[in-house]
Amino acid sequence: MTIISTQYASGIVAATEKAAIASSMLIGLGDEKAADQAAVDSMRTALNAIDFNGRIVIGEGERDEAPMLYIGEEVGTGNNHEVDIALDPLEGTTITAKGMPNSLSVIAASQRGGLLYAPDTYMNKIAVGGSFPEDIIDLDASVEDNIKSLASVKKVDVSKITACVLERSRHDNIIESLRTIGAKIVLIPDGDVAGIIMTTQELNPVDIYLGIGGAPEGVLAAAALQCIGGQMQTRLVINNEDEKMRAEKIGIKDLEKKYYLNDLAYGDIIFSATGVTEGTMVRGVKSARGHYVTHSLVLRTGDSPSQYIETYHKKN
Ligand code: FBP
Repeated sequence: MTIISTQYASGIVAATEKAAIASSMLIGLGDEKAADQAAVDSMRTALNAIDFNGRIVIGEGERDEAPMLYIGEEVGTGNNHEVDIALDPLEGTTITAKGMPNSLSVIAASQRGGLLYAPDTYMNKIAVGGSFPEDIIDLDASVEDNIKSLASVKKVDVSKITACVLERSRHDNIIESLRTIGAKIVLIPDGDVAGIIMTTQELNPVDIYLGIGGAPEGVLAAAALQCIGGQMQTRLVINNEDEKMRAEKIGIKDLEKKYYLNDLAYGDIIFSATGVTEGTMVRGVKSARGHYVTHSLVLRTGDSPSQYIETYHKKN
């Protein structure tokens, strides 16, 4: 079952590369909407060039609020295999507009039904990288218990564990618990897809991701973890009747359900993230004489290796 990863990989990677280049023109200009729109337009054109029957399951929003790349939109030529797509043309609109590090253009693709149809609400998340015993983390356990459990398996003191947390007031209690126990914290201004993937990377000093971010970003991060290895548990955070209605509309029956990695993303998956601004995970777009240079992290399920791809794109 390696249809997507083999046949469509180059098209998916080209789509994140092109979106990254387009939005990179707007780095630091203070216009989040324009940066996002540039990424959306470019990604859509690139996806429509792929010879597949693609359907967006995580996109820019619902049809009535997002004119392009909306949930349910069909992309590609319509021929060949049916592929579900989760995308965020610009993950980190604010950091791009402010010229700050770590914004990405991201796509995950799977066989039909392989990616959770998540509503555009918040999601509580906990994640660690691979090679740990099953269920070493538990979304319903305290921060202290999760950190102690990880430290014990890694045979290190809790002071050697680093947690990544989005810097938001809703996370004050998590941050206080981490400080009290003596764990280290990497606070990020935005971009929890990268925050979660960093738990899998030896070169990044992050052992565990904790906290509430977007549900669509949760599915994208899960797709990456499913390829590279790791554990993740999540639960939707539904704050009002409108969110409840939107979740139910896309088929979520149990709003309290605890989602494990396999519930979020499973099967034959390819994940591509191209850096927009300079980042700790992938480098940003570089403009040189005659070409743009992009850097992408490309992950696939199965035996395919993880790849860092540097591509030189001729300027028109
Ligand atoms: P955008 O690309 O929409 O700016 O999202 C960035 C992000 O930081 C995500 O990585 C994260 O999941 C979400 O926003 C958190 O939402 P909020 O900024 O409302 O706390």
